[in-house]
Amino acid sequence: MSLALIPGSFDPMTVGHLDIVKRALSLYDEVVVAVMINDQKNYDLTLEERVKIAELTVKGLDRVRVVGSEGLLIDLFDQLSADVIVKGIRNEKDRAYEEKMAAWNLAHNPRAMTVFLQAADDFEHINSTRVRELVRAGESPDEFVVPAVSEYLRARSARSAI
Ligand code: PNS
Repeated sequence: MSLALIPGSFDPMTVGHLDIVKRALSLYDEVVVAVMINDQKNYDLTLEERVKIAELTVKGLDRVRVVGSEGLLIDLFDQLSADVIVKGIRNEKDRAYEEKMAAWNLAHNPRAMTVFLQAADDFEHINSTRVRELVRAGESPDEFVVPAVSEYLRARSARSAI
């Protein structure tokens, strides 16, 4: 049984991330989406909210589960007995950033190798920042997230506006 770990901030998880999960499923037996905290980032959504959104996004997919972690990726990798880390790459900027992360993770855990999956052209323009901007502006993020997440984000934004 091979287990792929797909870690990230997922602030929030988009259909681009979902495409990577589906393609990882065609390569590995099991996929764990790990919603994490990057100390260098400030989040609009709490870890719990980001986990909930990831669960709504992968709902119905067999062989996929979501975990939230406040620890280090390399430790989670061992705890789950994962075989590989999978990251999606949209462009050169992503690649440069992810290669640094991958090198750091590998230097601190020689088992924790990262495999990069190139994002399909259709998903190149999709990013979590744009989703947050649209929701803040009161516009629909439907093109970027699954319907259940769009509903979740709009309800959340309506609540915080009260
Ligand atoms: O794409 P992101 O948002 O940077 O993904 C977050 C995460 C934690 C997967 C990434 O930053 C990473 O691989 N970091 C390696 C160091 C680590 O495990 N940090 C967690 C505590 S700071």
